[in-house]
Amino acid sequence: LKKALLALGNVLSPDEISTDESTRLSYGQDWTRFSHPDPEVVLRPRTLDQLQAIVRLAIEFQAKIVPSGGRTGLAGGAVASHREWVVSLERFKRIEPVDALDLSIRCEAGVTLLELQEQLRNSLWHWPVDLASKGSAQIGGLLSTNAGGLRVVRYGHVRRWVQSITLVDGTGNIQVLNGELDKNNSGYNFRELVIGAEGTLGIIASAQLKLTRRPRDLLHVLSPLNSIGECLELLAEVRNSALDLEAFEFFSKACVAAVLQNRADLKSLPEANWYCLWTWDTATEDPLSCLSTQPLPGGSLVATDIEAKDLWAYRESITESLALRGWVYKHDVSVPPRQLSSFVKDLEILCAKIYSEFEVFLFGHLADGNVHINIVGPRSVAAEEFLRECESKNADLYSLVKAYSGSCAAEHGIGILKKQELLLTRGPTQVEWMRLVKASLDPHQIFNPGKIFDKSAELHS
Ligand code: MLT
Ligand code: ZN
Repeated sequence: LKKALLALGNVLSPDEISTDESTRLSYGQDWTRFSHPDPEVVLRPRTLDQLQAIVRLAIEFQAKIVPSGGRTGLAGGAVASHREWVVSLERFKRIEPVDALDLSIRCEAGVTLLELQEQLRNSLWHWPVDLASKGSAQIGGLLSTNAGGLRVVRYGHVRRWVQSITLVDGTGNIQVLNGELDKNNSGYNFRELVIGAEGTLGIIASAQLKLTRRPRDLLHVLSPLNSIGECLELLAEVRNSALDLEAFEFFSKACVAAVLQNRADLKSLPEANWYCLWTWDTATEDPLSCLSTQPLPGGSLVATDIEAKDLWAYRESITESLALRGWVYKHDVSVPPRQLSSFVKDLEILCAKIYSEFEVFLFGHLADGNVHINIVGPRSVAAEEFLRECESKNADLYSLVKAYSGSCAAEHGIGILKKQELLLTRGPTQVEWMRLVKASLDPHQIFNPGKIFDKSAELHS
């Protein structure tokens, strides 16, 4: 390490290299809490030249690199627990003005989603990605995980809003993936490969992001309902109305109870088994007028955009409220939306059986068929034991997901937590293709080792 540190010291200033315990611990983990962080060093470069130099030194010293953004991931994709070099992009902060001709904006990887939103606040245009962790999540991480979030029903995942990516590749060279082109049908699309690769194929330094027109006047409704079937009927109804649906979320009454325990400032909601929270783009000056043609389920609460924060607090506080309750083991599955009603019924029966000692909270993005299954265990049980216990039930849970032709990772990615489940739901052939792609683009195997899949020998063991 001494030699490597000396070499790093030639390209980085002392405040850009940290080996102290607390920095290593905090930069070595994401929002998952099941691994012991143990990176060798944390590097915080400011320039592309420094980033390239770091990759070349990693090749020379046979070090491994964990690219690091806001570390809000929920699958361990940014965890460094095997003496890796964490390369944080947090000092890559430049945002350029909007390109009005192309409707795009160029920014560096360390810009947070909130900073980008602030930059665009007074413009007609916006980058239509939104998620609860926007204050910390950074552009590089959002692209690397192909983040989903609250607006997928209208805008899709992050990948739809990326024009080009500047990447430091596995040989330390810079690649501009797709240039500034809107139309480019010239062979394999490496931009798409890098998006969602969880930092295994290179380090994203900056990106050109596509923008779209900001919706004019939004209307938000929270409806108490009794069954997932009723939630789906409502979804079909509002989806088929003349207005564009911006979001359609759902959560169980157990989630509301957990939120209310944590947020004394929130009022209790009308009694129900399930709650749907949805948003319309009304495109009118008077969004409430839309309700004259659209009957709402009894007990629905309605808010204009100005008052929407209060309604969204019930949904956006779930993750934090569960984290305060105990250990949280997260599943992030999706099934075809038309199968949701039957899937959730089967899921509830299975969960009652396999997680009888724990609490189960269901919520997520109904319109995307995406169910977040959160298992919460008491802190009196050791974290490792809780993890082991939950993992021992995965075969049962993912057999159900597979029977519904579902995915084991709708939006959180695979990281280190879902590798076995990836094998089950995507199958060994496709995981082998992933390994081959990685071997070609990262010939020295330096980027984010052990994430998404293991080396082939371990794979089939
Ligand atoms: C959400 O939908 O709130 C996020 O995916 C976070 C979570 O699943 O906890
Ligand atoms: Zn989610």
